[in-house]
Amino acid sequence: MAAGAQAAGGDEVYLDGAFLPRKEARVSVEDRGFLLGDGVYEVSPAYRGRFFRLDRHMTRLRKGLEALKIDFDPSRLPEVHQELLERNGLSRGRPSVVYVQLTRGVAPRTHHFPEEPVSPTVYGYAKAHDRTPRSRWEEGWGAVTVPDQRWSRADVKTIALLPNVLAQEAARRAGVPDALMVRDGLALEGGHSNLFVVFGEALVTHPASNQILHGVTRECVLELARAEGLRVEERPIPLGELEDATELFFTGTTTEVRPTVELDGRSVGDGRVGPVTRTLYRRFLEQVDEECGGGGWEEWGSP
Ligand SMILES: Cc1ncc(COP(=O)(O)O)c(C=O)c1O
Repeated sequence: MAAGAQAAGGDEVYLDGAFLPRKEARVSVEDRGFLLGDGVYEVSPAYRGRFFRLDRHMTRLRKGLEALKIDFDPSRLPEVHQELLERNGLSRGRPSVVYVQLTRGVAPRTHHFPEEPVSPTVYGYAKAHDRTPRSRWEEGWGAVTVPDQRWSRADVKTIALLPNVLAQEAARRAGVPDALMVRDGLALEGGHSNLFVVFGEALVTHPASNQILHGVTRECVLELARAEGLRVEERPIPLGELEDATELFFTGTTTEVRPTVELDGRSVGDGRVGPVTRTLYRRFLEQVDEECGGGGWEEWGSP
């Protein structure tokens, strides 16, 4: 696919097979994404214009489409991802993400699937983001607990995100970046990130069940932790156990590895960013360097 002329402001999006300026992109009011939240999405990171683990993101998207029985073959989407970066001038420099969303398509509103076959609506855009400066990261952040009000397929990355929206709004009002979702007394994951807790020697995270999103960053951090020789446990974490946590952090595509030093106003461990979090973020950024040819530790790690 050849890169075309860049739209004004570098703000060119993809919609149903074409690249066009964002302000010209239009979706029908009968789109089932708009009416019913009937769709899935994916957010994939790129460093220096190279995607990090795009195959894992595409696998998760494929599984989501299958779970919702949306008939779409995503095999050409990696090309669209690359072209979105190029058309928006993001093929070098700052970390960026490509967002893609697929809805079941446009049809008169019914709860059940449309009677006639419809083509899914496919929308995508790219944007750059800045990684938190190291001096700020070293201070850590707070988080608040909120009840998990989601449906029982939290492993599907659906665009119906209202419980996550309410969770993250509660976090924003508390002046913290993460909401820790709690269900049946278990600390599951963040509003848009996965949870890791360190208890002394052990690194613990909730198993990849239907109750959490199977984060690509989570999977990478688990791999790196095992390679580092840490004791890793994938098991449910009762909320009460967090009182004994020595470290806690969240992982995600734009979150990367975010240390939490205060939960609901109480210190986690000694209230400082701990050694396991620090080591794993360094390993994560080194992995970015290795897979993307830079944009990770070599950029952030030097003073
Ligand atoms: C609920 C939830 N958990 C975890 C994650 C982290 O997943 P990933 O590391 O693939 O970005 C996300 C990402 O959006 C999320 O929405």
